[in-house]
Amino acid sequence: MPNAYISGTGSYVPPRVVTNEDLRTEFGIDTSHEWIHKRTGIEERHFAADGVGTAELAEHATRAALESAGLEAHELDAIVLATLSPDYHFPGSGVLLQHRLGLSEGDNVKFVPALDVRNQCSGFLYSLSVANGWVRSGMYKQVLVVGAETHSHALDLTTRGRTVSSLFGDGAGAVVVSATEEDRGIRGIYLGSNGKFADALCQKIWDISRFPYVPLDEDGGGLVAPDMLWAHMEGRTVFRNAVQAMTGALMEACKACETTIADIDMFAFHQANMRINEYVAKMLELPAEKVPHNIHKYGNTTAATIPLLLDETRREGRLKDGMKVGLAAFGSGFTWGSAIIDW
Ligand code: ACO
Repeated sequence: MPNAYISGTGSYVPPRVVTNEDLRTEFGIDTSHEWIHKRTGIEERHFAADGVGTAELAEHATRAALESAGLEAHELDAIVLATLSPDYHFPGSGVLLQHRLGLSEGDNVKFVPALDVRNQCSGFLYSLSVANGWVRSGMYKQVLVVGAETHSHALDLTTRGRTVSSLFGDGAGAVVVSATEEDRGIRGIYLGSNGKFADALCQKIWDISRFPYVPLDEDGGGLVAPDMLWAHMEGRTVFRNAVQAMTGALMEACKACETTIADIDMFAFHQANMRINEYVAKMLELPAEKVPHNIHKYGNTTAATIPLLLDETRREGRLKDGMKVGLAAFGSGFTWGSAIIDW
């Protein structure tokens, strides 16, 4: 059975930077840099331009990951794309990415399967587990895994929505998962969920049990009330459960891989909130130098946070071949996951 390892990483954030102060001055939100920074560690985030969507962000990150893996798009065997902000309700953004990569027509046509994963902040880890299974089973040799989000176009950027809208940013991260006979790669992935908390962090937009699923105006246009249109978050419940689940998931992954927390050289945690990650690090007694973060620059980019962090730390020379890496994420669902990788 081949091993599955990460042969390349890439990331992309759109150029527009929005600081905490910009949320106040440009968008008129009653907030302050001090409030946001103290509770979350966030200083700024990036917002995509009007007209730029998730598949486009994913394409930029993918091209960088392909370059780092030394591959062309047509050498991919499959695409897995994690997002909670897909370009359309259906089809998923994975097929839009397949088309953008030039695989749907022309000289490099290749009708690779494209799977969308809807597991929010844990989406990258769920996707990685699919890619790992495909590669280890021998079904595919090169699988693209992308996390991409265009949050800014679906945030309530008013004082009413400040608890949620001050946390999120746009961006994409990608990795190529490749087959190898070498003794390295993904050692184990641990995933979980607890749907009891589905309503504690959600964005409903419509209710499909209703006929019709959104109220209609007299011309047949949809009318969505603010409490359905925008995301809802019970912040303290999320915080408490995130610390518990990420800590537990890492310990489970270590047990399954017959390793210990102390053996791990670097942790790449989901970047939701600096305080959540500080608590996890404290509970597991992790030295600060093993826990890189970039939430101050990007905010929470949901499915993109972990691949973005892996790409940044690899390019900085902090993440090196031979290191043992621990990943952990928690998010809406609630869902969570962890992974141990011999890089
Ligand atoms: N600026 C100023 N005031 C704000 C802001 C803001 N951006 N956001 C909320 N407030 C106000 C609230 O309106 C409220 O005012 P009120 O008392 O007059 O009603 C007050 O601050 C306190 O609000 P709380 O929500 O109770 O604030 P709390 O101290 O719990 O902090 C926070 C909120 C930072 C979201 C915290 O609950 C938290 O960190 N939760 C974790 C959630 C998280 O990180 N989610 C990320 C997405 S999920 C994931 O990826 C894991």
